[in-house]
Amino acid sequence: MNDCECNQQPYIQLSPYFHQVGGHSSMFQYGKDTVCKVLESSELEFYESMPDSLKKFTPEFRGIVTVQYCEDELGFIKLVAQPETTCNDDDHSSNEEEMKITTDQESTDHNSKKSVQLRCSEDGRVDYSNNLGTDAVNYEQGKIIMSKINPWGLQLCKKQAEKLHRQLLGDENVTISQKYILLENVTAQFRYPCILDLKMGRRQHADIDSDKKRQSKIQKCESSTSSTLGVRLCGMQVYQVDSGRYIFTDKYRGRILTIDGFRSTLVEFFNNGRITRLDVLPAIIERLESLYETINFLSTYRFYSGSLLIVYDGLLQSNLIDIRMIDFAHSVHATPATDEISAANNHAGPDKGYLFGLERLIDVFKEILNEEKKLIPTVNLAN
Ligand SMILES: Nc1ncnc2c1ncn2[C@@H]1O[C@H](COP(=O)(O)OP(=O)(O)O)[C@@H](O)[C@H]1O
Ligand SMILES: [Mg+2]
Repeated sequence: MNDCECNQQPYIQLSPYFHQVGGHSSMFQYGKDTVCKVLESSELEFYESMPDSLKKFTPEFRGIVTVQYCEDELGFIKLVAQPETTCNDDDHSSNEEEMKITTDQESTDHNSKKSVQLRCSEDGRVDYSNNLGTDAVNYEQGKIIMSKINPWGLQLCKKQAEKLHRQLLGDENVTISQKYILLENVTAQFRYPCILDLKMGRRQHADIDSDKKRQSKIQKCESSTSSTLGVRLCGMQVYQVDSGRYIFTDKYRGRILTIDGFRSTLVEFFNNGRITRLDVLPAIIERLESLYETINFLSTYRFYSGSLLIVYDGLLQSNLIDIRMIDFAHSVHATPATDEISAANNHAGPDKGYLFGLERLIDVFKEILNEEKKLIPTVNLAN
């Protein structure tokens, strides 16, 4: 078992982030309303050069941390984050109130933690230290599941810990650390966040992708609603009021949906088991229209493989919604540092594929609002 080098210093202990519906690497929770994601230089560059007009449609970028992986003497896994010295001080100090700075003594008090803890056993297996994840553990890819905790995030978190644990087994004296970016947690203000992750655009491959990657992404687009609607489902969770559980759908099911299947999945997104939450739809449509206008003005920007996160609150008394663009690792735009002529040639004007997807999405939401309104008992649309 290794010990954290940062034991003597203040640091922030990360916890699993429970509302991750898609993605390929585990996001972690950093304080109450901040999440962190493995740093990819292309995504960092995008956040650092974000045009002002997009800022209200993206999570706030809150700096960089170095995250160290540690195991204590009982096998409990800790991920501890230390802010980079290069971190923008203003951005960073704005979070300080929410951050829980843990001392080593506090962080080993596992009973005081409500969240799922990961623990590695003597034989090297990584598992959950409590039963919160049992229905999530039985989850099979592509199957719809009802679960208290979204299985996708848990599964990624466990995989990440297993990988790091194997690295540590290779050399106990080595320090295992990785850089992460800090982002505003878009779901933090929601009591029961109902979340849609939609991959936008008809094309997902970046200019720099290898042939193999390019072919695989083209194939996924051609065989899914990416080609027909310019949007495909990459993950979803919907709160069910009677059971207090979430219905969860993953990207594998998203890839095989037909146009009709996509539409009916969006209807399910608003269904809480009792009623269809059409009350939140007008605000969602309005915000998508506003995003359309914004992207239409952004010449040379391409958001390949980017997603839209659409969130509303499963709490009946709330009609709060939010929509943000995420995942900019494959986004490109002309900058003074790039070859502007070739960028402009390749990518003149706004991202038409993204706009096409937004238009279709707005159409589907409008159809749902008009058709379902006639059929299903709903909450009062006037509130
Ligand atoms: N800022 C954020 N706030 C809340 N959840 C987020 C945020 N960014 C990403 N997520 C969650 O993490 C998932 C994966 O994020 P994404 O940036 O697409 O990662 P990847 O690059 O691995 O695809 C999303 O489906 C969403 O559920
Ligand atoms: Mg993604």
